[in-house]
Amino acid sequence: MTDRLDTIDRAKVASAYHAMSFIESGMSVGLGTGSTAAWLVKLLGARKHIEGLDIQCTSTSEVTEALALEVGLPTQSLEEADWLDLTIDGADEFDPLLTLIKGAGGALLREKIVATASDRMIVISDLSKQVDVLGAFPLPVEVVRFGWQATQGMIGDVLGEADVAEEHIERRMRNGEPYVTDEGHYILDLHLKRIADVDALALALLAVPGVVETGLFIDIADTVVLGASSGEAQLLRADEAPVIVDDLDEARLQAFLDHIFAT
Ligand code: A5P
Repeated sequence: MTDRLDTIDRAKVASAYHAMSFIESGMSVGLGTGSTAAWLVKLLGARKHIEGLDIQCTSTSEVTEALALEVGLPTQSLEEADWLDLTIDGADEFDPLLTLIKGAGGALLREKIVATASDRMIVISDLSKQVDVLGAFPLPVEVVRFGWQATQGMIGDVLGEADVAEEHIERRMRNGEPYVTDEGHYILDLHLKRIADVDALALALLAVPGVVETGLFIDIADTVVLGASSGEAQLLRADEAPVIVDDLDEARLQAFLDHIFAT
């Protein structure tokens, strides 16, 4: 792999490259958000240019939509697509059951809608996201702006009853202003340290008026492609032994990366 990439990006590229093997011409593909998903988008653009890959893409955020168009991928809205063959997206944390925390990039609502409007969701990740118990990463919760303080108070009540190790809530800020999602909502980041019962917490949070969606993705992802800086990857599925993938075609990947760095 090119020496222009650091160790972390090599792992992200390996994950995205191996996940691309699930994509073939004729498919409708959901594109995730975040730095790992951005590598996927760039590699797909290179594969389209070099190999003529013919797919339709649906983006999970405005940022990803702009990148997809920039690299020459045809895009369609979810309304136009109706249903997708698969969605490939990153994650902030995943556990052995492939339950995810997502939303660091603020796109959790569209990400969940797109992923669940797909035959399958594949997660692209590196070792840093793999945990035994979710919660070290703050859990994003998308809330409507109207009465958000009241919603935050009720979320606080939920956390008081939940089996979590910490109960700190922060409204997400960006450049000194409240962060607003593509759908016009705020995000509350829940610092919990450890979530003992993700199903119970997700249900309780979704019952709070003003909560639009949580960053807990339960029973949505079926595979994690865990990339390593060596270029290898592991395919992880819940309750199955990992499958090692070590058939990376160096010349093919280098051609993709040369195209990415040249454009
Ligand atoms: C975006 O809202 C998130 O759900 C991302 O999927 C997540 O933050 C992963 O991003 P990285 O690949 O940059 O870690």
